[in-house]
Amino acid sequence: MIKNKRLLTIICLALVVAIASLFFPKGQEAKKDEPAKVGVLQFVTHEALDEIYRGIQAGLAESGYDDKKLTIDFLNAEGDQSKVQTMSQTLVNNGNQVLVGIATPAAQGLANASKDIPVIMGAVTDPVGANLVKDLKKPGGNVTGVSDRTPIGAQIELMKTLTPDVKTVGVLYTSSEDNSKSQVEEFTKLAEEKGYKVEAYSVPSTNEITTTMNVMLSKVDAVWLPLDNTIASAFATVVSAAKEAKKPIFPSVDTMVKEGGLASVVINQYELGVATGKMVAKVLDGQKVGDLPVEIFAEGQPVVNQKVAKELGIAIPEDVLKTAVEVIK
Ligand code: TRP
Repeated sequence: MIKNKRLLTIICLALVVAIASLFFPKGQEAKKDEPAKVGVLQFVTHEALDEIYRGIQAGLAESGYDDKKLTIDFLNAEGDQSKVQTMSQTLVNNGNQVLVGIATPAAQGLANASKDIPVIMGAVTDPVGANLVKDLKKPGGNVTGVSDRTPIGAQIELMKTLTPDVKTVGVLYTSSEDNSKSQVEEFTKLAEEKGYKVEAYSVPSTNEITTTMNVMLSKVDAVWLPLDNTIASAFATVVSAAKEAKKPIFPSVDTMVKEGGLASVVINQYELGVATGKMVAKVLDGQKVGDLPVEIFAEGQPVVNQKVAKELGIAIPEDVLKTAVEVIK
């Protein structure tokens, strides 16, 4: 009797396991049916980064990762470094297979939080300078992605064409953003080679923008801005100070030309995102992150804001208008 009871229990258990395994197939197969999990951390809200995120989703969908095949765990640190840290940890803890950092501080936070989950950089200007990869061609570690090196030489040429009387250029950037540091160095070098005097000012946060702009504007003829996330997120403040001083702003992205800058030579933000999304898909498909070279976007196209030009009394030459990808009226 006791023996039979034991046998019955064993048979019952075996049946339960057999039935359960029909519902929960093990290993690889289970993953096939479950959607892939990707964690995305955006550093702050501004038009350009929002556009990059839309591009990332489109790039993933184009590679076959639509809503059914993928869940995106999206967080935005709203420019707060301590949130970057806690949110990076959250995305690691949530069991995401691939992590995406939109902008340098976000990619740095994720890279610090994990040394083995693949991290894809979305629009990081200087991956080596930001200590994210050692070699752009062969990253080796768990980080690769897309870099947006703005065509600074071409931006300076455009500044010369549109405002030939400018002699001193002011530069405003945020001290904590590694992406800005390397752009400001490059701009200073190239602009000085072309005979400009450069006055660079850094701010610790958005709170100091107005005061710093006013000090700077009393000394310079024009303002050049790098791809700086903190400045981009409070760009309206920069615009209103420059407007009052009647001095032109040369930003590094089309979104900031639309919002009151004069002109720039820019990289398409959406395309940066699409390329990032496609790279995420490659890693989900099984490619090794360390073997994927960093994709570099550097070729730019001119954009001009004719409304701002009119306000400043600047005539935009026909050939510039013809080559521009976008003329804001
Ligand atoms: N390249 C920036 C970084 O490395 C991010 C960025 C992309 C950006 N597009 C921008 C910043 C436009 C300001 C404006 O962090």
